[in-house]
Amino acid sequence: MLEKIKAIEAAANDEMGSAADAKALDDLKIKYLGRKGLVTELLGQISSLSAEEKPRLGKELNALKVRIDGAFGARQAELARSPVLPKDHADLTLPGFRPPSGSRHPLTKTIDEILSAFLGMGFKVVEGPEIETEFYNFEALNIALDHPSRDAFDTFYIKNKYLLRSHTSPMQVRFMETEKPPFKIVVPGRVYRPDAVDASHSFMFHQVEGLVVGEDVTFADLKGTLGMFVKSYFGAAAKIRFRPHHFPFTEPSAEVDVSCFICGGKGCSVCGRKGWLEILGCGMVHPNVFKAVKYPSGKYTGFAFGMGADRIAMLKYGINDMRLFFENDMRFLEQFK
Ligand code: DAH
Repeated sequence: MLEKIKAIEAAANDEMGSAADAKALDDLKIKYLGRKGLVTELLGQISSLSAEEKPRLGKELNALKVRIDGAFGARQAELARSPVLPKDHADLTLPGFRPPSGSRHPLTKTIDEILSAFLGMGFKVVEGPEIETEFYNFEALNIALDHPSRDAFDTFYIKNKYLLRSHTSPMQVRFMETEKPPFKIVVPGRVYRPDAVDASHSFMFHQVEGLVVGEDVTFADLKGTLGMFVKSYFGAAAKIRFRPHHFPFTEPSAEVDVSCFICGGKGCSVCGRKGWLEILGCGMVHPNVFKAVKYPSGKYTGFAFGMGADRIAMLKYGINDMRLFFENDMRFLEQFK
């Protein structure tokens, strides 16, 4: 009998130790302590023992029952804390692998942020073709074929008067040809010029064009709109200033500077000690442009502006070489998560 008790206890401990879950453990409890369980069965045999063996083995058996019951409870608590998983099962408590995640390109991010500043002021985003004609890229924008300002818009020609647009301004004309004022649009996109590639030039770069036309749009609206943009994009402390300039498609025209957001206008290496950073060109839409899109003479006024997104991204993130945008070196791109 004593042998049996030992064997049963060893087997019970062994099986409980490898019980994988609460259900398996419950089954074991029935197997050992249930009404027809192994321990219960032994207890049943007590009556057939001799009078001197009875009390001793009866005590042993009862103690065994208590021990198995205790071991059962302990194992149950253990399982509740950390379920034992089969060997081929994933261990869900291990730290996970984080799949590498991509991020938006700094230029995409910059353009999206510029656009969202204008969307907040009721502008609509439109896009246009990168392959353009001389008419849209030049003539309709009041840039005569023999006008010296053409040099400023050095251009990749394809053939038959087709070219790669050298600015986003042609979209002003395309939009006005089909839409009636009032409207406010911004036009993001790639533009191309045959420039030698260096730290501040590329044969392809990005612009965001803006155009607002209505019956009494004034230069004050232009100043207000760009002032709002600069504050929303560069921060509430940013100031702007207008410098007279010349563009064929606007009159009057201006270049706009924003107070350097690095030094706050005191002068530093980013702004070349000037305290100001040039960010865009703008002006009131030239009457000849309205004429080219066949708007009734004198009915509408409007303003336009154009900014280089690459340059703005460089200023914003302190990037000193434009080529970094196009090399797609992961070590560079990963910094813009
Ligand atoms: N298209 C000009 C450029 O590429 C930028 C520009 C200047 C756009 C003045 C405008 C504007 O709409 O009004 O240099």
